[in-house]
Amino acid sequence: MSVLELRTASKLIPIRIECGGMEWLAREIESCFAPQRPRFLLVCDERVALLYGKSLHTYLESCGLSVEFMSLPPGESEKNFRTLKLILDKLAHKNFSRKDVLLALGGGVITDINGFAASIYARGIRWIALPTTVLGMVDASIGGKTAINHETAKNLIGAFHQPECVLADILTLKTLVPRETRSGAAEIVKGALLEGGAIWMELQDEGPDALTWSEAQLFAMIEKGARAKIEIVSRDEFESGERMLLNLGHTFGHALENVAGYGTLTHGEAVFYGMQAAVWLSEKMGLMKKEIAVALLLWMQTLSLPRANVTAESLLQALPSDKKADQGKLRWILLSKPGVPEIRDDVPLELVQECAAWLCDRVRGGEEVSVREHSAKRILILHGPNLNLLGTREPEIYGSQTLSDIESLCETHAQKCGAECLFRSSNHEGELIEYIQWARHWADGIIVNPGAYTHTSVALRDALSAIKLPTIELHLSDPSQREEYRHHSFIRDVCLRTVSGHGADGYAIALDFLLSHLSGTLGQSAG
Ligand code: DQA
Repeated sequence: MSVLELRTASKLIPIRIECGGMEWLAREIESCFAPQRPRFLLVCDERVALLYGKSLHTYLESCGLSVEFMSLPPGESEKNFRTLKLILDKLAHKNFSRKDVLLALGGGVITDINGFAASIYARGIRWIALPTTVLGMVDASIGGKTAINHETAKNLIGAFHQPECVLADILTLKTLVPRETRSGAAEIVKGALLEGGAIWMELQDEGPDALTWSEAQLFAMIEKGARAKIEIVSRDEFESGERMLLNLGHTFGHALENVAGYGTLTHGEAVFYGMQAAVWLSEKMGLMKKEIAVALLLWMQTLSLPRANVTAESLLQALPSDKKADQGKLRWILLSKPGVPEIRDDVPLELVQECAAWLCDRVRGGEEVSVREHSAKRILILHGPNLNLLGTREPEIYGSQTLSDIESLCETHAQKCGAECLFRSSNHEGELIEYIQWARHWADGIIVNPGAYTHTSVALRDALSAIKLPTIELHLSDPSQREEYRHHSFIRDVCLRTVSGHGADGYAIALDFLLSHLSGTLGQSAG
């Protein structure tokens, strides 16, 4: 799709954006290091592990690469010393050397923390950014700024450490929740306001809400946003001048994100609020004409943002320790109009206080329901040992359909019901447990056929009862009519229902039951 390049004083960093899938990513990674064959540590969060991480790991290994895998709990609140240590411990215990490579698959949190781990482990090892979010693709993965948060400020502990390359698979955006998509667009809006030319013109018409853009527009915007960032970083890699402009909306934005509590507002949402504050301040400083400020604020407010309960005092307190403060003076990125930004450190304290109060009113009056979540119900369909052999395995008991036939059946049925399915299968108990644990970050419910682990695995039962997602136990045959050792199921009483003995038709029965349960429309007689 697009091959961009970031040229710094010491390095040329290819940035590829492609509708490629995990197989494409694996091949790209392999070809980057073809003659050297280093070892890799692939790191992602647990949600991405379920959706992409495990399959990327499998593809990388099938390319003959030596890859360790690690998943981390998701969320901005995890971008801390404890998580950093987990990554460093893994690198150290697995004897990674300076020749080896860290692969960071995920959004801004994952690229920031892994880039930072790569910058300090063994005095710096190579890393590749594999962004899976809008924000990651247009901003976090480009430019080599890596960091973790400190309790006093976001991204306070960090380093500049450029990745070897950035490989962005656009297909991964399909699984973002709407909130992530629209908040990721904050960095595109920021870039457009700084650029003020073609990108701004286009965005002005489209509006700031990425959920109203078509898929093609979103992809095109990501590419333009990435290009705009590349240009700025290539002229000022270490933020000694122009790159500071990229902090538009971040001074109040970072403070807001911190004070609201990480996870209450996303980074992008806080930056959207912060950009409104920057426009307000620009007008009050006499830099921006009133009519431009009014029009810009109206345009920005077409995007409704979530509410957070913050006070002006707490917001002001969070400001001075922001890392952009220079000898006690706060540095602000202001605008006289889109395309004409300015760095200012002369905003009077009274005006900052007034702005904090103005901003707090807005943030407290934001949207009540903070998450406009996915509408389709998401179901993980999990298969245990020997079910990969379906089709040839004892067809007189299990039928002649293969596992992929069954997956197509489920897919078709789920589509009719407006649901989304994800299929995972494994012959290994531990892997099945990992999928179940990771499901809590993505799925609304699970259909599981644990195969023979049904009759042996206390661990599977524990995993299901720990995550408490509505689950259906499914068997193609009817184990109660077979050998006695199949009569006991360890998972039965932690599942909503057991569907057995219906062959492949059982999946539609299980899906219908689970979806009715999830939508609260289950009749009294069902069960
Ligand atoms: C099974 C029944 C189990 O007893 C058996 O070990 C399987 C398949 C079924 O789908 O009928 O592997 O779960």
